[in-house]
Amino acid sequence: MSFFITLEGIEGSGKTTQIGFLADWLRQEGHEVVLTREPGGCPIADNVRAILLDPANSAMTSGTELLLYAAARAQHVAEVIRPALQRGALVLCDRFTDATVAYQGYARGLDRALIDSLNEVAAADCRPDLTLLLDLPVENGLDRALERIAATTGDREDRFERESLAFHNRVREGYLALSRQAPRRFRVIPADALAEDVATHLRQAVSAFLQEGGS
Ligand code: TMP
Repeated sequence: MSFFITLEGIEGSGKTTQIGFLADWLRQEGHEVVLTREPGGCPIADNVRAILLDPANSAMTSGTELLLYAAARAQHVAEVIRPALQRGALVLCDRFTDATVAYQGYARGLDRALIDSLNEVAAADCRPDLTLLLDLPVENGLDRALERIAATTGDREDRFERESLAFHNRVREGYLALSRQAPRRFRVIPADALAEDVATHLRQAVSAFLQEGGS
């Protein structure tokens, strides 16, 4: 049986490390896992990602940003996610439609109904069965994100990392609001903890979900 699991969180929440651990564990458990991410996940969507994150594109309007996320998602769903789910794989995706509601909706202030309809066009029948939200105070997440950037790329922050603390707080509040709107789908995992403890917590949440047959 196929499952679609997404991982969400603010900058520096440790998503990318944790989703790698989760994929390794699920493979050891015998699942065919497709590990992917948004924006991106296939060559066309990766090109759109580069445009979206390029600090040189500071003139990009919120509407353009929203349409580009939707465009990247439509391609990613058609090329990677839907085929994987159709052949019975377990898809693990680093960010998906909830990120658009949190970032472009709650943080940028774009209309929720418009975002929901674009998400519907881009994702169609591919809706997450389970969403793991890594939650921590924004200040701690940004500290981690900036340390990572300094270590890997010198000092190049992307367009989103340059946003204000208030912006990132709206993202966090947006995610938490989404988790209250869809409590059966969301599991909120405290991420201000040791990576091993967060990994254990995530495995427990996924294991319980799979044992219940994905409900
Ligand atoms: P990442 O940090 O997970 O690599 O994601 C790149 C950035 O894209 C991150 O700042 C969040 C942002 N984003 C949106 O604003 N809307 C979206 O729909 C998605 C998928 C990501």
